[in-house]
Amino acid sequence: MNQKRKTGLKYLKNFRETGAFKETSRKVELEICQRIPRDRDVIVVEYGMGHGNITREILATIGPNSKLYAFEVVKEFCDDVKEMIDDERLIIINDGAENLKKHVTEPIDAVISSIPFSFFSEEKGNTIIQSAYDMLNGGSSYSQVLLTKFNFKKFQAVFDECEIMNLKGFPKEYIYHCRKRENHEPK
Ligand SMILES: C[S@@+](CC[C@H](N)C(=O)[O-])C[C@H]1O[C@@H](n2cnc3c(N)ncnc32)[C@H](O)[C@@H]1O
Repeated sequence: MNQKRKTGLKYLKNFRETGAFKETSRKVELEICQRIPRDRDVIVVEYGMGHGNITREILATIGPNSKLYAFEVVKEFCDDVKEMIDDERLIIINDGAENLKKHVTEPIDAVISSIPFSFFSEEKGNTIIQSAYDMLNGGSSYSQVLLTKFNFKKFQAVFDECEIMNLKGFPKEYIYHCRKRENHEPK
């Protein structure tokens, strides 16, 4: 069985956590990394590393002295990625995005997320969005892939500028690009 099918089966087996039966598409991997600064070394946070398809694209995008903190709640996925990706810029955290501030203390230049917001309580979803906003540098972005537009309002309530992109295909995938203004004032 090829790796993509194996990953799909593992996502299905852990459906309560993943909300997915296959990896996000190549179009998503490319589009979701568009707002990562390329002119300097950066600190990036990924939510929902899964089997590491977006993780690989982030590592291909960032510079040699950058750091990527990747959060993932399923321990098996963390162990699999540790075996598959050997890169000292990658710090894997087997915990939820809602605990960002426990693990990351330095300001962040980009958040890249594929966690299933529709599965979360209102409170958990809002905590994740607000703590990412608090930790991002001014001018930086949080990019989220989801299969619906339903959660866009939650991001608009916190971020200063939000844009939604519809990536055609099956299933339909939406990317929310949400930016914290350079000289932001808390909402
Ligand atoms: C839709 S899958 C995406 C996986 C992969 N990044 C991709 O693009 O195909 C969502 C992933 O988020 C993880 N996840 C769910 N809740 C999470 C949370 N609160 N914090 C971090 N990861 C979470 C799931 O276990 C799953 O691996």
